[in-house]
Amino acid sequence: MTYTNATAVAERSARSGPWWREAVVYQVYIRSFADGSGDGIGDIAGLRSRLGYLSDLGVDGIWINPWYRSPMADGGYDVTDYFDIDPVFGTLDGADEFISACHEHGIRVIVDLVPNHTSNQHPWFKEALAAPPGSPARARYWFRPGRGDGGEEPPNDWRSRFEFVGSAWTRVHETDGTPGEWYLHLFTPEQPDLNWGNREVTEEFRSILRFWLGLGVDGFRVDAAPGLAKDPDTSHLGYWDRDEVHEIYRKWRRLIDSHPGEQQFVAEACQIGPDRVANYVRPDELHTAFSIDFLWCEWDAGRLRAVIDNTLSTLGAVGAPATWVLSNHGAVRHVSRYGRTSTGGVDLLLGTRRARAAALLLLALPGCAYIYQGDELGLWQVRSETGDPRDGCRVPLPWSGEQPPFGFSPPDASAACWLGQPSAWSEITAERQTGDQVSMLELYRRALKIRRAHPALGDGSLAWDDGAPPGVLSFTREPGFRCMVNLSAENVQLPLHDWLLPSSALESDLLLPPDSAVWLADGESPTS
Ligand code: NOJ
Repeated sequence: MTYTNATAVAERSARSGPWWREAVVYQVYIRSFADGSGDGIGDIAGLRSRLGYLSDLGVDGIWINPWYRSPMADGGYDVTDYFDIDPVFGTLDGADEFISACHEHGIRVIVDLVPNHTSNQHPWFKEALAAPPGSPARARYWFRPGRGDGGEEPPNDWRSRFEFVGSAWTRVHETDGTPGEWYLHLFTPEQPDLNWGNREVTEEFRSILRFWLGLGVDGFRVDAAPGLAKDPDTSHLGYWDRDEVHEIYRKWRRLIDSHPGEQQFVAEACQIGPDRVANYVRPDELHTAFSIDFLWCEWDAGRLRAVIDNTLSTLGAVGAPATWVLSNHGAVRHVSRYGRTSTGGVDLLLGTRRARAAALLLLALPGCAYIYQGDELGLWQVRSETGDPRDGCRVPLPWSGEQPPFGFSPPDASAACWLGQPSAWSEITAERQTGDQVSMLELYRRALKIRRAHPALGDGSLAWDDGAPPGVLSFTREPGFRCMVNLSAENVQLPLHDWLLPSSALESDLLLPPDSAVWLADGESPTS
C-alpha cells in the first residue's frame, strides 16, 4: 500500500476517536519556559510569544505546571488561590487571552489541578490555625491531637512522600501560644492535606473545575491522584489508593462530561503500580494516567518490553489508552539517565543517542505521549544550584544566541535567569538546531509530522515481531508501519522496507546501529 500525504491525512482525519486517546502533549514548566517580562522567570507573556514554536513542533496540546497564586514552597504545588494566576506569571486576563491564543494555534491547554493539599498560606489554612480544635475551619484539613501524655508525639507514624521532610505531621501552636494539635501533610509542611470527606472541600473543587472549564481549558492534570482519600484514625490502612478515592473521580467525570466539548483528566498516580493505576481510568473515572514505569525503566530491551506490555494490557483491560512519558519536572532528564556509565559518570553522547532512539519509541507506541520541555532540544540534567535537586531538570530553556540566558529573557531584562544555564547549551539552542537535519529538534519535528499523518500511529495496538534479534524491540502497527529500536551492542539487519525516519545515521541502508531506532513503512513516506 502506498501512502501519499493526502490519503494518509484523509484516513487519519476519518478516525472518530477523541483527541485525548492519542494526543501528543508538551509539558510546560512555566517558570523555565520563556520570560516575557524580563525578571528572569518564565511567564505567560513569554509562553505566548513562543506559541509559533510549539505549533511548528507539531504538538496537540500543552500541560502547564501550576500557575496559580502561590508562595512557591514547592514549585507552585502549594496554592493559595486556585482562581487566580500568580503575579510572577501574569494575570487572569492574560491567562484567558492566552488560552484563546493557544486554540487559534490549534493547541489544547491542560492545567494542573492540585486537590490533595493547599498552601499553608491559603486563607482556609490561616482560618484553621486561628480557630480552635474541633472547629469547622479545622475540619477542612486533617488536624488531630498528638499521642503521648503531652500530645508531643505525632498522631501516627505516616511519613511524608518527601524523604527530607520526615514525619507527615507538623504540630501547631494554638492561639494562646501553647503547643497544640498536629496537621497532616503528605508532602512538605507548607502543603497541608485537605480532608476530602468535607463537603466544603468537594464543593470548592467543583467550583474550581467549572471556573477553568469556563475559561476554555481542555483538561486537567490531577496531582497526586491516589492520595485524596485517607483516614488517619485508621492509620493501618495507609493513605494512597483507598477505594473511596474513586467516588471523587466518578463525580468529576460526570461534571466534565456535562460540559460541552471534549475535555480530559490525566492522572498523576506515580505512587502506585500499573495494575492499580488502571482503576483510575475506568470508563466512568479519569481519562488517562501517566505510565511512570516507562519513565523509570532502564535502557534494556527486555525490561522496556515488559513495561510496555504490562501497561498496554492493564490499561487495555479497562478500555483506556496508555500515556507514555520519558521525563518530567521531577525526574532526572533522560539524556542523563540513559547516559549513566557503570563507573557512575554520565556519557552525554551515549545518552543523547539513546534519547533520540527513545523519542521514536515514545512516539510510535499506541496511545498518548507527553514531551517535557527541552526533551526536544536534548537538554541534560544540570547540577542544581538550589536546595531542590529537582531543579536540575528545570533549568530555563536555551532559545537562541551564544551566551546565557540564550534568549530566555528579553535583551533588556532587569534580572538574571532564576537558574543558571550551562554555557555548553549554546550548541543546542532552538535557533541553532532549527534547520539542522541531524539535530534533536528536527528529529522531533519530523517524527511528529509523520505521527500526525500516518494512520497507523496514535491510538490502537501493536504486534511484537518475535523474530527480532535479542536486545531489539521491533513491532508493527497497522497499516504498514514498523518501529525498530536496537538496544543491543551489535548492528542489526533491517527488513526490506521503505524507511520513514531513522534516529541516527544508518551504517548502510540495511543496518541499524546500536542505541538507535528507525521507523519503517511499506510504500512511500506519508510526508514525502
Ligand atoms: C507531584 C508533583 O509532580 C510534584 O512536583 C509535587 O511536588 C507533588 N506532586 C506535590 O504536589
